[in-house]
Amino acid sequence: MCGIVGYIGCRDAFPILIKGLYHLEYRGYDSAGVALANGGEMNIYKTKGRVSELEAFCKNRDVSGTAGIAHTRWATHGEPNNINAHPHYSESKNIALIHNGIIENYVVIKDRLIQNGCHFQSDTDTEVLAQLIEYIKELNNIDLCAAVQLALGQVIGAYAIAVMEKGRPDRLIAARKSSPLALGVGEDEFFIASDASPIIEYTNKVIYLEDEEIAVVYRHEAPKIVTIGNIEKTREIIQLEISLSQLEKGGYPHFMLKEIFDQPRTLRDCMRGRIDADCKQVVLSGIRDHKERFCNAKRIIILACGTSWHAGLIGEYLLEEFCRIPVEVEYSSEFRYRNPVMYPDDVVIAISQSGETADTLAAIDLARRAGAFVYGICNVVGSSIARNTHSGSYTHVGPEIGVASTKAFTAQLMTLAMMSLCIAREKKTISEERFLRLLEELNRIPDKVERILRADESIKNLAGIFTYAHNFIYLGRGYNYPIAMEGALKLKEISYIHAEGYPAAEMKHGPIALIDSEMPVVAIATDNEMYEKVISNIQEVKARNGRIIAIVSENDAAMKDIADYVIEIPATEDCFDPLLTVIPLQLLSYHIAVTKRRDVDRPRNLAKSVTVE
Ligand code: M6R
Repeated sequence: MCGIVGYIGCRDAFPILIKGLYHLEYRGYDSAGVALANGGEMNIYKTKGRVSELEAFCKNRDVSGTAGIAHTRWATHGEPNNINAHPHYSESKNIALIHNGIIENYVVIKDRLIQNGCHFQSDTDTEVLAQLIEYIKELNNIDLCAAVQLALGQVIGAYAIAVMEKGRPDRLIAARKSSPLALGVGEDEFFIASDASPIIEYTNKVIYLEDEEIAVVYRHEAPKIVTIGNIEKTREIIQLEISLSQLEKGGYPHFMLKEIFDQPRTLRDCMRGRIDADCKQVVLSGIRDHKERFCNAKRIIILACGTSWHAGLIGEYLLEEFCRIPVEVEYSSEFRYRNPVMYPDDVVIAISQSGETADTLAAIDLARRAGAFVYGICNVVGSSIARNTHSGSYTHVGPEIGVASTKAFTAQLMTLAMMSLCIAREKKTISEERFLRLLEELNRIPDKVERILRADESIKNLAGIFTYAHNFIYLGRGYNYPIAMEGALKLKEISYIHAEGYPAAEMKHGPIALIDSEMPVVAIATDNEMYEKVISNIQEVKARNGRIIAIVSENDAAMKDIADYVIEIPATEDCFDPLLTVIPLQLLSYHIAVTKRRDVDRPRNLAKSVTVE
């Protein structure tokens, strides 16, 4: 988590850095800071709170300089306060450093530095690195880049850093390991950032550093890239395809609402070039190129976290139903530490919007070391997971800025559905007639999502009724059980209301004790083979005076007599139901959170990319 940004060029650095921080605020927002090189001087300003507070703090202060680095923090070591905010100084205050990641062995290094006369101001692991770099530089009388190389050779953990030295306004140094870092290449100006969003306004040319690489960035010459071990590297310049408008709210009050409403388009984008115009073919190049791996797989293991894990659960249902391959879905964070049994013919699918989730990256590493073939489903092009997998499919929804994942989730489902159909056809585990019927229906999903979005106003009214609630229960069965969990996650992360998602039939094994007249229960009861069973579960809630909000298929007259509130959605195939049932749940969470005046796009304690374990 944390966002880092750096600029060196001919313009004033401060406005570029502040704007960059606003773009990166989704990565952390509990404190922010900036260091500016101004001739022989270096000015550092930092404050607890949001970027706007930093900007206000800097008003009437000297923010001149054409080189600088800036940071927005998601606290790991040390509470969010002014002192723990980045940048951090070295002992002499000649070196300023910003960091995204965790230095795991910081205690040992800190003790050693204290014994050697260093004085620490903050509780952070980051300050240790700033101090270590200077200590090594002075001790060996070497240049800053060499000191950074030696220091990074001593640290264990993850980092994306940018370093600046007083009296050297002509140079920034950046390095990364297991945390993302992009270098923007302009005309006589360069940018450093955790992702491309602060860069894209100025240039669409970027270089992505690899692990343990360091870039020495000057104003007027191409960056020099070397490894920690001092091997020179050449990195390809990549042309970005995102536009600035994708990073703006486009008239919506929040990114989350924009992203919810974007879904008809993003689902079409996800299918574009993969499903042909006649709906007779679905081709995912990653699957086509590795079809033997998938067709011969004895088992598929899906690795993911959070919302992506929920997508993985639906992937399990799809792949098992259509491809007849046993699937296990694992939290990456558990998988990586539990010595799992792996076989070389296992196929691993790693799902991640950001492509930077630390636990998923580590789980991928483990699977690769065990000889498995790893396929990634990522949204962020060029992300670490996209680069560390053997093959994969992008979800192509553009940048997702709201911390609560919405459009990336539905595109993950769409990708898993297309993958399942591709593999099933290849394996002949699906009849041609069913394949074609499903593909046509998949193609109709964006229009159906559009129809659901028209109910926004009535869902908003419904949200107003339930803001009193301190707890929610979500129930679903079959394909909709993971959606019950996803609905609950969406609600808790942005409204801070406690919510649980259960398979509807499990309710009577414990959670039913929670039901009383105060308890809202969101039940997904669409027209499928589980319908009657879910109705029975709803009756059990009703008998205990629970308040029922039912998500049903259009024209379900019966439910109107049973549930307190009904949200209708168009009918679809059971297996594609999640692509529709999740939409009203996203809107319900959004409107409840707005009514409660929550910071929807930047909920407390959360960050968009979880780049620490
Ligand atoms: O970028 P990833 O998909 O790997 O992120 C995984 C989770 O951190 C993420 O889905 C998180 O749960 C979201 N805030 C959910 O809305």
